[in-house]
Amino acid sequence: MAAMQNERLQAFVDEVAARTDLLQVVQTYVPLKRKGGRYWGCCPFHQEKTPSFSVEPEKGLFYCFGCHAGGNAFKFLSLMENVSYFEAIKLQAEKLGIELPKRKLTPAEEQRERERKDLLRVNELARDFFHNCLTLTKIGEPGRRYLAGRGITEATIKAFSLGFAPPAWDKLKTAFQKRGVTEKLLLGSGLCLPRREGDGIYDRFRGRMMIPIADERGRVVGFGGRVLDDSVPKYLNTPETILFNKRYLLFGLDRAHHAIAREGYAIIVEGYMDAIAVFGAGIENVVATLGTAFTVEHAKKLMRYARRLIFCYDSDEAGQSATIRALSILQNTGAEVSVLRVPDGKDPDEFIRKNGADAFRALTREALSLVDFRMEYVLAHTRHDTLSGKVQALHQMAPVFQGMGAGAARTEYVKRLASALMLEEDVVRDELRRGSREREAAPERTPLRREIRRSDSALDKAGRVLVRLATSDPGRLSEAETLVPLERVLGIVQLEILSALKKGGSETDIQAALSDEAAAELSRAQVDEGLLAGRSEEAAYQDALRVLKKAYLNQKYMEHSQLAEKYLEAGNPAYRVELQRVEAIKHELEEMESE
Ligand code: CTP
Ligand code: MN
Repeated sequence: MAAMQNERLQAFVDEVAARTDLLQVVQTYVPLKRKGGRYWGCCPFHQEKTPSFSVEPEKGLFYCFGCHAGGNAFKFLSLMENVSYFEAIKLQAEKLGIELPKRKLTPAEEQRERERKDLLRVNELARDFFHNCLTLTKIGEPGRRYLAGRGITEATIKAFSLGFAPPAWDKLKTAFQKRGVTEKLLLGSGLCLPRREGDGIYDRFRGRMMIPIADERGRVVGFGGRVLDDSVPKYLNTPETILFNKRYLLFGLDRAHHAIAREGYAIIVEGYMDAIAVFGAGIENVVATLGTAFTVEHAKKLMRYARRLIFCYDSDEAGQSATIRALSILQNTGAEVSVLRVPDGKDPDEFIRKNGADAFRALTREALSLVDFRMEYVLAHTRHDTLSGKVQALHQMAPVFQGMGAGAARTEYVKRLASALMLEEDVVRDELRRGSREREAAPERTPLRREIRRSDSALDKAGRVLVRLATSDPGRLSEAETLVPLERVLGIVQLEILSALKKGGSETDIQAALSDEAAAELSRAQVDEGLLAGRSEEAAYQDALRVLKKAYLNQKYMEHSQLAEKYLEAGNPAYRVELQRVEAIKHELEEMESE
């Protein structure tokens, strides 16, 4: 039964793939010009003036030489339309008029699917109900006055479908029940609550301005409601439902994601009113958390569009410590973070109201680097006039210094930290170094960070050659595996591709199984003409093997040298064996050099 369904699904996917013309798909979004066997255009995934986005219709692959996005037609659609790979296939099928094979859902799945659909529908109804109430009715008058007082324009009210919940116990309930919405749905959506005494239900949101909260595809999954005066609670949100999970949701992402990709960064603010104000000021790459902490899930979502994240939380103590927590969440994710501090007034919304959009735009250009921000925060939160306070401050600073690498910037920061703490620079440098060595003793592998830097070392290229050859000749991959432990030298993205290639399957299946990074890297390996650099496949393969082997030997060299040093310090005679190993490896490396 299940096998039969899989077969039909496979046939469906194959048909869509066969009838999909990559060039046509891309050209509906991006103007392309032909040059040689390829087509070129300006990349839709990052901002550029000269085209580095290329399409190779023959291979069915696109690849951007600027931002390294890449993949097949479905990957393109999924990135462009912000949907999953399979949803992209379905979208394309719709365009081609190919019917989706109807899979029989289990009763439980059907039930859940129905519930989701019903909830979405009821939320949509509620959004319209609140919005109409605000914009069309007499009851909406206080809401209109409130929004006008906050400087929120009609355009913004429309763009965000802002609304107003009437100050009554059952207006929504009555209206909805008349339209056949069940009590169960009203409760399940969080729009109503059960009466404490007796039967029946009543409206949760009363006398509040209403902010619909959408998922990243723009479907309304919940609401925030703000009082019009100083009563409490200031904000009331939809409770957790099967659609509404604050760990995953970012307010505004449905509107912001194109701008985030285009600008190369996202601005994250604390409250939806801030996001609305910033967006209304014409800065569209802004999202807000929903009154909860920033999570890894939030980071992952945003980093699908850009790696640079600018935090712009309230300038009060709560906002600043929330920033510190967000920054620690982001360690080792590869995100490039900075912090925008609102100098005058407590949050972005107030700042914009007081100083205007241009002033805010100017602020975004002056966002503090992670180190600067951390340094100010640490200095403000330690008693660094005492010796123990100074040590504490140094320890708190160590992690960001470690992430910085050597170089002029580091020297400059050491100088500044030293002067702020009134210590000698040497003392600061030693202390930071000691701090980082202690951490290295318990090495925490952070492949994500390594990979995301998208460096382009000889090792990366060698791995890429291997990826390219493995697609045409899997035998070479098996051979390479016996010669070098690839998992020790290649990054996770290339390893992901190689393991997918080993599993086999059609091109569409392979792309489907790959993460966006891996799909892009696979495209790159297949379309990059510079990769073989005029060498034959065999010569390129041999060169790649040498690079991989050398990297492996170098790793072993480091490992055994460190062991030897450790044993020596501990007075353990095992250090001799380790030294011998080091010598042997060194010898092998020298042989390779002279070959
Ligand atoms: N919040 C909440 N419940 C509250 C207070 C705050 O859920 N009782 C959440 C909301 O998501 C809000 C965010 O925390 O957007 C930020 O709170 P705050 O800074 O107090 O609100 P502002 O965004 O400044 O709202 P306003 O400008 O309307 O006062
Ligand atoms: Mn505010």
